[in-house]
Amino acid sequence: VVNFTSDNCHGVSGPILDAIARANAGSAASYGDDAATAGLASRFAALFEREVAVYPVITGSAANALALSTLVPPHGAILCHEASHILTDECGAVEMFTHGARLVGLPGREGKLWPDAVEAALARFEKGSVHHAQPAALGITNASEMGTVYRPHEIAALSKVAKANGLALHMDGARFANALAALGCSASELTWRAGIDALSFGATKNGAMAAEAVVFFDPHAARDFEYRRKKAGHLISKMRFVSAQLEAYLEGGLWLDNARIANAQAAKLGRALQGRLAFPVEANEVFARLPVATAARLREAGARFYDWTPPKDGDVLVRLVTSFATRDADVARFVEIAGTE
Ligand SMILES: Cc1ncc(COP(=O)(O)O)c(C=O)c1O
Repeated sequence: VVNFTSDNCHGVSGPILDAIARANAGSAASYGDDAATAGLASRFAALFEREVAVYPVITGSAANALALSTLVPPHGAILCHEASHILTDECGAVEMFTHGARLVGLPGREGKLWPDAVEAALARFEKGSVHHAQPAALGITNASEMGTVYRPHEIAALSKVAKANGLALHMDGARFANALAALGCSASELTWRAGIDALSFGATKNGAMAAEAVVFFDPHAARDFEYRRKKAGHLISKMRFVSAQLEAYLEGGLWLDNARIANAQAAKLGRALQGRLAFPVEANEVFARLPVATAARLREAGARFYDWTPPKDGDVLVRLVTSFATRDADVARFVEIAGTE
């Protein structure tokens, strides 16, 4: 079956599965006191070219909610894109973990936030007024929910507005590898050098079984994170299996190799569906308007994908997500049916 529903519907990258099996030998200290977890600090420090605080968790929603709850008080407001995962797809986890901070969805362009929308939103809040939630963080997603990618200078422009208004800047990097592979810059350029304070570093969508990491670029900003993670039930007792996945993910650049494959498959789909695209194809997601009949024929042929919006005027906007496991034949078959219409 050609499955483009999501990148997390695919399996686990071979080297990561092998690393899990290796971690199974013998015993190790629990709750993150093992060697693999201890080693993450230096691995992530090397990757980001500075000392960081890094904490493994097993879902992206937990990473986002725990990171934001550390940065934002209960009376805070978090500004984000109106289609952002934290706002639309996490069942209010951020609100719950922050003890009630408000998520404020803003309009964007190409699935991304821009400084003008952030400034306009900030003008609606009265700073220091007890009657208003107090803007405390800005959340962006890279690669975005629309498969587009923030460049370092675009993040820096958002950071300038954020910092001028006392907001922390969080990046949901569920697809950070895809963004980085697309741009070819360094991980530091795409994060703290551009003003990011905390990152949800995703791995599950790009080949891990269940592994994400919360990264604070100023280790002091992590404050009480560890207590929050435990209290939320996200301090995994057999942490070594999560950390082993992150180790193998980074080892030898597997994470970027995987992301490059996913991005290249999406690019092929994008080229075939040119003229039907709703957003530029920059990472591993393709949003295309297909005739309803074509979408139906693709499904009859075994293809799986989501309709993103209800059909309109005979067309339907579909989302196609590729992964490290997407095969050339999958793309070719899909294009054969869809691309020629
Ligand atoms: C942009 C984005 N952020 C975060 C997540 C985290 O997801 P989960 O909690 O399912 O690991 C996802 C998964 O769909 C996502 O697409």
